[in-house]
Amino acid sequence: MSIEIKVNGRNYSVNTAPETSLLTVLRDHLGLTGSKYGCGEGECGACTVLVNGYSRRSCITKVGDLTNGQEVTTIEGLDRNGKLHPVQQAFLEAEAFQCAYCTVGMIMTTVAMLDAIPHPTDAQAIEFLNGNICRCGTYPRILRAVHLAADRMAKGGAR
Ligand code: FES
Ligand code: FES
Repeated sequence: MSIEIKVNGRNYSVNTAPETSLLTVLRDHLGLTGSKYGCGEGECGACTVLVNGYSRRSCITKVGDLTNGQEVTTIEGLDRNGKLHPVQQAFLEAEAFQCAYCTVGMIMTTVAMLDAIPHPTDAQAIEFLNGNICRCGTYPRILRAVHLAADRMAKGGAR
């Protein structure tokens, strides 16, 4: 059946079953491969996207649940006019990745976190990012990136 969804400000009509995961639709139907498949069970955070600004595991989100005007944002929708989002920029500058498989999920969760908590403490950031797993153990640099992004956004880097 045809499912209408809005991703990164664009409306799409996707021919699939309503139970299909949002991650499959993003990657296989729309070609938005930034969101990664890790565990497929909602446990690792690699597939995290924003739905109406809140972080959501796209691997366990049925696309059929998103048809009532909800807005999906993926990593491909974060930049504006070729300029990286401050969180993306901070992850780059802090070198907050090794293999980078977790990075997109970390960035999307951080964007949602800084929207809710503009200046998180280390403890708050760790708690918020708790469901995002980095097998390379780059957590200290990820924390540095979180604080760098928070400082930049407080100084007007947010959009
Ligand atoms: S792939 Fe979705 S949480 Fe792991
Ligand atoms: S950088 Fe490799 S899993 Fe996080």
